[in-house]
Amino acid sequence: MLDGKRVLLIISGGIAAYKSLDLIRRLRERGVRVRCVLTKGGAQFVTPLSVAALSEEKVYTDLFSLTDESEMGHIRLSREADLVVVAPASADILAKMAAGIADDLATTALLATDKPVLVAPTMNVMMWAHPATQANIATLESRGVMRVGPGAGNLACGEVGSGRLAEVPEIVAAIEEFLLSGPGAVPSAAGPLSGRRALVTSGPTWEAIDPVRYIANRSSGKQGHAIAGALARLGAETVLVSGPTNLADPAGVSVVRIESAREMHEACFAALPVDVAVCAAAVADWRVARAADQKMKKDGSGPPQLELAENPDILASLSRAGEKRPRLVVGFAAETENVVEHARAKLARKGCDWIVANDVSPATGTFGGADNTVHLIGGNGTENWPKLSKEAVAERLAARIAEHFKGAA
Ligand code: PMT
Repeated sequence: MLDGKRVLLIISGGIAAYKSLDLIRRLRERGVRVRCVLTKGGAQFVTPLSVAALSEEKVYTDLFSLTDESEMGHIRLSREADLVVVAPASADILAKMAAGIADDLATTALLATDKPVLVAPTMNVMMWAHPATQANIATLESRGVMRVGPGAGNLACGEVGSGRLAEVPEIVAAIEEFLLSGPGAVPSAAGPLSGRRALVTSGPTWEAIDPVRYIANRSSGKQGHAIAGALARLGAETVLVSGPTNLADPAGVSVVRIESAREMHEACFAALPVDVAVCAAAVADWRVARAADQKMKKDGSGPPQLELAENPDILASLSRAGEKRPRLVVGFAAETENVVEHARAKLARKGCDWIVANDVSPATGTFGGADNTVHLIGGNGTENWPKLSKEAVAERLAARIAEHFKGAA
């Protein structure tokens, strides 16, 4: 599916640089053309020869090489790619990228590129937590640089915490996600879900108090949108019913925009029949019973009493829709304590087939963040997935859905 796509891989210094060899191999297996730049630091950990052997391309190391510049100038090198990936990305290269320093081939190419950039940081836990690194990352992300990881765990330096290079499959998933959903990407017509119809809900709902005020929640829609995109890339004809978000429509997906839970309920039932429904939206359980027609006034008689009414439960009603029931109904459970236990109870109560449980306590950053740590609870018990980017969670879930339908009529 990635045949002909081109990645410029910049390998900077760090003990995890050896993993870049596996990354090259996996990208090559998917048909990606990988051209590599090895920094001086990177070359302390992997040799140009092994990088060249795996990429089957010349490896670029030196900014002032007459041969390299005549064959392929650093500007061309930085432009002849669909995506520039820095993996591993050390604290040093992130700092140089943020400051616009161009003192070697890698940083010069990064400054000269007009292509999207994805970084996979890795470093010591204190280096990662340092305000300087965090400020550099924030600067890069505000300029549109994408990031995968770092993960948490035992670090090569002997300490434990955040700073591990994301696992190679996660980096591959992030690259794949971008290459398939970026400009010009098209959903697969021959994917494992072709011929299937999927419905996904995403984002928050807004429940009106009066014409200018509403009750909402912190959902960004990142998780639900990523799932809709992943299902479409596997070939499913996908309808995304979304509350208000700032996200672009995923490629190849029909998007129905709504505001309230009742509108979402109606739009979901209008999208039936579908083979699979994934309810990732953070739907308000309650709405204001009688929203005011005009803006409510502060008239000195004290704050208004808002009476709440229960909203329809979309997941439960899809699960109990009789003949219209999707063959596979997947819910989410947003919990702040006893995550798996509460999610199991929710699965039984709402009558869905699988439930994806995630911890949404403020410290996790799940609402609105880029990553998610989920537990998939279904027919085969409970699977605890590692912390992944929301795109990688979506890819895995879509792959599991495809597996579920494999061989089914
Ligand atoms: O949008 P992001 O910023 O990326 O964050 C992702 C997320 C945290 C919103 C997402 O991963 C998630 O957990 N979505 C479900 C949020 C939620 O409302 O959970 P809940 O436990 O309150 O509801 C359980 C299930 O019932 C969910 O599938 C929900 O969509 C569904 N529901 C809830 C109420 C309702 N009236 N109708 C519903 O369909």
